[in-house]
Amino acid sequence: MGINAPPALKALIVQGAAAAMVLALLPGAAFFWGSVVPPLAAAFAIGLAAAVAGALWRLPPWWLPIQLFFAPALLGMLSMQLSPAWFLGALALLLVIYGGVFHGRVPLYLSSRQVKRAVAEWLPDGPFRLIDLGCGLGGMLAYLAGARPQGNYLGVEAALLPYGLSRLRRGLSRGRWAVAWGSFWRRDVGSFDVIYAYLSPVPMPRLARKLRAEMQPSALFISNTFPLPGIEPAAIVELQDIHHSVLYVYRYANIIGRPSSIPATVETRHVENC
Ligand SMILES: C[S@@+](CC[C@H](N)C(=O)[O-])C[C@H]1O[C@@H](n2cnc3c(N)ncnc32)[C@H](O)[C@@H]1O
Repeated sequence: MGINAPPALKALIVQGAAAAMVLALLPGAAFFWGSVVPPLAAAFAIGLAAAVAGALWRLPPWWLPIQLFFAPALLGMLSMQLSPAWFLGALALLLVIYGGVFHGRVPLYLSSRQVKRAVAEWLPDGPFRLIDLGCGLGGMLAYLAGARPQGNYLGVEAALLPYGLSRLRRGLSRGRWAVAWGSFWRRDVGSFDVIYAYLSPVPMPRLARKLRAEMQPSALFISNTFPLPGIEPAAIVELQDIHHSVLYVYRYANIIGRPSSIPATVETRHVENC
């Protein structure tokens, strides 16, 4: 099946189709067996059909158990007769926290303290401007603004709750940092000396194109965990934090495909967790 769609949309289509197919077959199955099909069996039949169709449509593997157990779990929840307000509330909460996931397939997880320290070491000595693409709760910015106060920091965040919390944090902390709401795809990164991102593998090819078009020749791009595909970094910093984070550090020369005058270095930091 070659139609390209975001996994969440594929999962929804597959569930809907599986439910329609199984519900249409229920009367025939009841006739064949001589009794009504138990709702739980029907729910598992929907799950099985959805998981098989999801696998055929090349849904990422972690979606398959979700597909399999979605209908039985829904049936279980319905049998608890919870008020629909609970479901609406849970959906609203997920949307404000993880709103960015549906659009850009980048969830919220936070840079460790070791990553913040390692990023601080890459910052220029004089005044500079740094942008955090998808700043989450603003932790990286708050830390850097304290550790390297000669910098001017901006975070851009698309998900509402993280944005609101980072604004609150901004109000309670010191230093030259600010947060803007919206998508970083609409921001020109050309006026920044350092660009930091902790995203996911999905946006990295598009981000490489954006950096190639906008990044200034003296700027540095630092990506936590997710490298730019097909681009050799100037340095790789492996940290011994809880996530085993790796920083990929790129200069403009790397991004535009010119061999960097500085050979790629791999550095491993053994930093105590804190
Ligand atoms: C993995 S978190 C990183 C948070 C923070 N930068 C840090 O290092 O702790 C990624 C964040 O990027 C946000 N995000 C994803 N796509 C975005 C976009 N196009 N524009 C702005 N924020 C985005 C997500 O909502 C999420 O909060």
